[in-house]
Amino acid sequence: MPYPTERLRRLRRTGALRGMVQETRLHPSSLIYPLFVQEGKGIVEEISSMPGVSRFSPDRLHAEIAEIASLGLGSVILFGIPDKKDPTGSAAFDENGVVQQAIRTIKQEAPEMVVITDVCLCEYTSHGHCGVLDGQEVANDATLDLLARMAVSHTEAGADMVAPSDMMDGRVRAIRSALDQGGFSGVPIMSYAAKFASAFYGPFREAAESTPAFGDRRSYQMDPANRREAMREIGLDIEEGADIVMVKPALAYLDVLREARERFEHPLAAYNVSGEYAMVKAAAARGWIDEERIVPEILTSIKRAGADLIITYFAKEMAGKLEKKAD
Ligand code: PBG
Repeated sequence: MPYPTERLRRLRRTGALRGMVQETRLHPSSLIYPLFVQEGKGIVEEISSMPGVSRFSPDRLHAEIAEIASLGLGSVILFGIPDKKDPTGSAAFDENGVVQQAIRTIKQEAPEMVVITDVCLCEYTSHGHCGVLDGQEVANDATLDLLARMAVSHTEAGADMVAPSDMMDGRVRAIRSALDQGGFSGVPIMSYAAKFASAFYGPFREAAESTPAFGDRRSYQMDPANRREAMREIGLDIEEGADIVMVKPALAYLDVLREARERFEHPLAAYNVSGEYAMVKAAAARGWIDEERIVPEILTSIKRAGADLIITYFAKEMAGKLEKKAD
């Protein structure tokens, strides 16, 4: 029965009515905060292209973790920036590596915090690619063993979950079997299942010092044009044993998220990446957009598209807003 009987504005009249019929809600438990940890001592260094986000040495993490926990956030994902890089990224599986140290520190400060680690060699290799090289090519199968060692090393240090982001074929299976053999059959894998070769990672590469020395990542990360292939990637990671699957980036890929939500039952994560963060910060600094309103709108859109979990540099800011609203 259309207008004048049907009037959708009836349920928009007041804030209380709008709240009752709101279909999508954000909650701090579904936000994951990325943390950059840098080898060394006494380091707290803001990343110029990501205002409000800093790199911390493990000894300076305490206050940051306390703040994250006090905002009601329950999980972080760690990225390491080692002192020394080599062709195979061996610092990635050093038991005293920067991520391994950071995990132990966080577990002391906040034992309940879910510590997820990014598993990828690009921050650790001298050439900046996500795997070992065979000539100018990234060798798939030779990389799997290194990723598996890295995942086991993180787990031995106390990580609660590992998140492979390298896009090698078969890495979820390799990591699952290495964890199981190492006695960590209870540790879940969140795979960056559909990770696109994206210009939106620009600021992250500055933050993590992981820009490839030659070429680009298009021989392993996905072509932004391919939605059907993204479904195959997600399906295969699930078959290989992924517990949570991710689409990355988020905003330019909301259709991929929506389709993944419809096709698969697994928990679905989206990565609201560094470039998406930087664009908002840059425009807001010029007064061109209202950051207060745009951040919840963006994060709500990612959830509405189908994500259960959102990895976002806005997690602290958003959790703060949600806390204020709840008061
Ligand atoms: C590592 C990795 C990247 C990001 C997460 N893990 C960079 C890349 O693939 O080049 C990007 C995150 C962001 O842009 O916020 N492979």
